[in-house]
Amino acid sequence: MMIVSTLDELRTARLLLDGVVGLAPTMGYLHEGHLSLARRAKAECRAVVVSIFVNPAQFGPNEDLSKYPRDLDRDLRLLESAGVDLVWTPTPEVMYPPGFQTWVEVEEMARPLEGAMRPGHFRGVTTIVAKLFNAVQPGRAYFGQKDAQQAAVIRQMARDLDFPIEIIVCPIIREADGLAMSSRNIYLDAEQRKAATILYRALSAAKDEFEKGERKAGILRQIIKEIIASEPLARMQYVSCSDYDTLQELEKVTGKTLLSTAVFIGKTRLIDNFVLE
Ligand code: PAF
Repeated sequence: MMIVSTLDELRTARLLLDGVVGLAPTMGYLHEGHLSLARRAKAECRAVVVSIFVNPAQFGPNEDLSKYPRDLDRDLRLLESAGVDLVWTPTPEVMYPPGFQTWVEVEEMARPLEGAMRPGHFRGVTTIVAKLFNAVQPGRAYFGQKDAQQAAVIRQMARDLDFPIEIIVCPIIREADGLAMSSRNIYLDAEQRKAATILYRALSAAKDEFEKGERKAGILRQIIKEIIASEPLARMQYVSCSDYDTLQELEKVTGKTLLSTAVFIGKTRLIDNFVLE
């Protein structure tokens, strides 16, 4: 496995990879969710590149950038055993050199949900992902369904900016009790960890009602809100029942739909979602 940091090293290493290259962009502190992206890329592409970069531009001023968990040695061991060909670990100076002033911003789709709660977040995400795409030139790029809006925003960006890259969204990987895997789960103490399953339980209850025939989006949202409110350690930020592609809030579920929520458990912000087909 090649491991590089600078842009020149990345370009030289990239020349050694031929055929379709799959890219899995990450911020490190890898878990099974990330590894599932790398394994899927391995199954579908001739070569796999994983980037590890904790992108300062997507963190708000009150968010956890300096405390964001990091363990590069462990990440590299995991990626090696997943059969990854090239790992790129740029520094902030490589990605945002002095004088940097060009940003990539998706408009409408980036406004609701995460965009409303985390102003500037998607501008940071789309800028860094565009730079990763330009540098790595993958044929396919792999993202997790847990960040459903991120995947939708990146799909829109790739379409609008003519990146010839297939955007592949991989299923959420969950712990045995349903909690969606996330690098941020490490912040939860034992009591909070138990409480954190409330997102999965609330979304599952709404999905059950949908499967029994409920189509009113307001009722599905209400079910989720009530269950989250029943958990004393949880503070809900939003609950949404939106069109899967446009992320517009729905009155009635008629097509592919995204049920999503963001909840604080103590100081840790967790997100989760279910897709209704
Ligand atoms: O999902 C993430 O980990 C990040 O948002 C990404 C896509 C690596 C961009 O920094």
